[in-house]
Amino acid sequence: MVRLRAAVLASLAVLFSTTSAISTTSAAGFLSEDGTVGFALNVPQADDDNDLYFTFNGPSSSSWIAVGMGSSQMDNSLIFMMYADSTGTNITLSPRYGGGNYEPEHTKDVIVHVMPGSQVVNGRMTANVRCEQCLTWPGGSVDTANTKAPFMFARGPEQDFTSNSVSASVKRHAHYGSFTLDLTKALGTKAVPNADYADSAGTVQLSAKDDKDLAPPFHAFFMLFAFVGVMPIGVLILRILDRPKWHGINQAISVLLALAGVGLGFYIGTLYQRTRSFTSAHQIFGIIIMAMLIGELIVGFLHHRMYMLTRIPTILTKIHIWIGRVVISCGIANGFLGFPLALNRKYNWALLILVGLVLGVAAPFLFWRYRRNIQKKRTASGVRHMEDTGYEDQPWNSGMPTHSFTDLRHMQNYPLQNTKPQQGR
Ligand code: HEM
Ligand SMILES: *[C@@H]1O[C@H](CO)[C@@H](O)[C@H](O)[C@H]1NC(C)=O
Repeated sequence: MVRLRAAVLASLAVLFSTTSAISTTSAAGFLSEDGTVGFALNVPQADDDNDLYFTFNGPSSSSWIAVGMGSSQMDNSLIFMMYADSTGTNITLSPRYGGGNYEPEHTKDVIVHVMPGSQVVNGRMTANVRCEQCLTWPGGSVDTANTKAPFMFARGPEQDFTSNSVSASVKRHAHYGSFTLDLTKALGTKAVPNADYADSAGTVQLSAKDDKDLAPPFHAFFMLFAFVGVMPIGVLILRILDRPKWHGINQAISVLLALAGVGLGFYIGTLYQRTRSFTSAHQIFGIIIMAMLIGELIVGFLHHRMYMLTRIPTILTKIHIWIGRVVISCGIANGFLGFPLALNRKYNWALLILVGLVLGVAAPFLFWRYRRNIQKKRTASGVRHMEDTGYEDQPWNSGMPTHSFTDLRHMQNYPLQNTKPQQGR
């Protein structure tokens, strides 16, 4: 039925139009074995312009659909990618050069015309295309005499995705594969072909693969586990359990986790045009945070060693505490930049809820600890001292009646053995 109606429409189109519209012209055709992506290519007969006419289609539930020419791999191919435009009823066609196994880069050098019949309707998107002087490009070409000309196809993950930009950032494919076409079957009167009439007798699908992109979720998991989970637990180990040694071990583990996550991040960064130059805020911020984190670990060990030798808190103690606060906060904040960069803006809500939960769990402990310290101070240094220090809950001066821990005058009043060594690291 559909074929019949298409045939009637096609013959009507031929009857009533003198220009090159969608027609039953000769074309080589491909339909992926999973039935999702279709492609038909017409090579105009005796054409001095070296144009190509083609149509391709795929499920509109996919964020994007693409077909590439000239290779069975991304490198050196000329790729045509389409996604729904902002109206959701038509498509944006983006010609791109493939440079390797990463997001192909949009090119202005390939002139494409989106032809009538292009649309998003009934769960499918279709692009009808005339591509000007499309037989060669830097790095590749189409040999119209080739009976096994290499092509490839891919579709993006399922996602509501619309853009009018020909250089829109996209996610990595959910499925990709390669095929060959017999281009001698494609030769005919120049026109956008009808995929239903294309000749697929000489077509061979070489490969097809589902692509699970695991690096980004693992990157996010390692980072959040480190910054929202393990690091705050390390703070509680010190503040609630008063175990500096376990605090150190815990935080060293958290840094290793974060380093593993950063390694994944560097790999992911090579995959997308938006990240390949490593200049996005999330990446720059992330590198700075990582440097701070390693510094924090070193300062932590140093100040602990000095404290164990002298039993006097040093400037390193204060630095360690403040870098710690800043670095954990920045690490979590950077997560809010990461999800939009991965085109997963909505996960920021999940992150917000997670951070809220962790704060909700930690708050009672910290409050308990704060009360306990007030109690300790009262018995240790009397009420006069309490008024001096206010709410300050800093272990390095909890036994010392002064705002400034670098001010050593009070040391005469408070002999070392009274400074409660188990608290000041
Ligand atoms: C954001 C966009 C894209 C990214 C990040 C990307 C990345 C990659 C990566 C990492 C691989 C290797 C996968 C593996 O080893 O399992 C790959 C393979 C492949 N990609 Fe893409 N790709 C993108 C877009 C496209 C597009 C638009 C096409 C076009 C049709 C395409 C076609 C292919 C094909 C055919 C392969 C297999 C290559 C081979 O067998 O060596 N990719 N891609
Ligand atoms: C989509 O855009 C092309 C090019 O502007 C046009 O020829 C075609 O008719 C449009 N399709 C729909 C459904 O509006």
